[in-house]
Amino acid sequence: MLFIILLECSIELVPSELTALKPIQKHAGRRKKKPTELLLDQSYHGMVMPRLEEHERRGRPDIVFLSLHTLLETPLCKQGGLQLYLHLRDGRIVYVNSQVRIPRNQERFVGLLEQLLVVGRVPPHGDSLLEVTDHTLPSLISDLEAKHSRVKSFIAVEDGESTTFDGLVELYPSDPKEHVVFGVGAFPHGDFSPSVIQLFEKKLCLDVDVMMAWHVCAEILWSYSKKHTVTKNRHATE
Ligand SMILES: C[S@@+](CC[C@H](N)C(=O)[O-])C[C@H]1O[C@@H](n2cnc3c(N)ncnc32)[C@H](O)[C@@H]1O
Repeated sequence: MLFIILLECSIELVPSELTALKPIQKHAGRRKKKPTELLLDQSYHGMVMPRLEEHERRGRPDIVFLSLHTLLETPLCKQGGLQLYLHLRDGRIVYVNSQVRIPRNQERFVGLLEQLLVVGRVPPHGDSLLEVTDHTLPSLISDLEAKHSRVKSFIAVEDGESTTFDGLVELYPSDPKEHVVFGVGAFPHGDFSPSVIQLFEKKLCLDVDVMMAWHVCAEILWSYSKKHTVTKNRHATE
């Protein structure tokens, strides 16, 4: 099983220090929402965001949107070989049901994230597609290690050990019972917090340039699928 954790995701509701500002009130009015129920988004709130601490790494729901589209509904995911989690800026962990079909339209996806952050789950009742858990990042990783006994953990980071696609395939354990936890940053600028990076065993750099988070997700997903011959196996069972 491949577990991917999108780390320090730049998704959050508009923080209280911005809710009274005119551009936020106007946007909330247009969306027919309370300002406190609006997702922070640089595309709409960029003018007022410089008032926030670390504003350049906040308000980018498109990163999670594109990363989830890259990972979900893929052959590995359909085989039940992929489980995703979102790690939010405030430390909370969101469980992503691998069967979820993310809306193709980003505005509709933003609506789901708003419901998630206001109510704690999507949908509010019944089987959850997205749900805020009681986990912290350390407790999630220890829980995965405790449940699955053999787990290798990696984090994708620009100053990690240089690794090619084939090198990545080699690094994954051959035994499918041995699991992989991979962390990818879902923020636009800056470095991981030290408390996050230290939770992973191996730091891997996948290219000499900075990559988009969703391209990193694609490389991890397809290298893992290659290791476990996912596509070949699916053709063979047809
Ligand atoms: C856009 S980057 C984040 C910030 C990056 N420092 C910047 O200035 O743009 C998103 C994430 O993709 C991963 N990433 C980006 N470039 C990478 C690379 N060359 N090797 C491995 N991971 C990379 C990291 O997990 C990173 O947190």
